[in-house]
Amino acid sequence: MKVLFVCLGNICRSPTAEAVLSHLCEKHGVNLVVDSAGTAAYHIGKAPDPRSQAAALARGIDMSSLKARQVRVEDFYDFDVVFAMDQDNLAGLKSLRPDDAKAELGLFLDECGSLGEAEVPDPYYGGQLGFERVLDLLFDACESFLQDKVLH
Ligand code: 4NP
Repeated sequence: MKVLFVCLGNICRSPTAEAVLSHLCEKHGVNLVVDSAGTAAYHIGKAPDPRSQAAALARGIDMSSLKARQVRVEDFYDFDVVFAMDQDNLAGLKSLRPDDAKAELGLFLDECGSLGEAEVPDPYYGGQLGFERVLDLLFDACESFLQDKVLH
């Protein structure tokens, strides 16, 4: 299975989702292809935000080798599942997705989260607590995704 996570800039939420799911796949001995992208082009080629990297590293996850890219139409043919971090990005993805594409498209927390939020809040303009919340939400949802959709 090939899973793509998408947020706005691909420097905070979706690379964190990519890194957390990859980390949990390794822990569970599961072989998935995991990637991330942004709907916007602002940060193409950049490493994840230092605040996201610091929050992930504190939980044993090194994100330093990731590089931001923008989502492309071919992604909808290449990936089996495309998960948006919030409603705005889901709407952007819906308008980009060709009708004959294979990828299923959904809101990640709406489908897999259990902590009472449907969206991963954008932490970019806030403090470090927002980045911790992103990790809490994504660890929970990635573990549920593996348990419910992959390991069952
Ligand atoms: P992300 O966060 O979508 O989780 O990567 C953001 C990164 C950059 C900006 C907004 C959100 N920005 O406006 O540059």
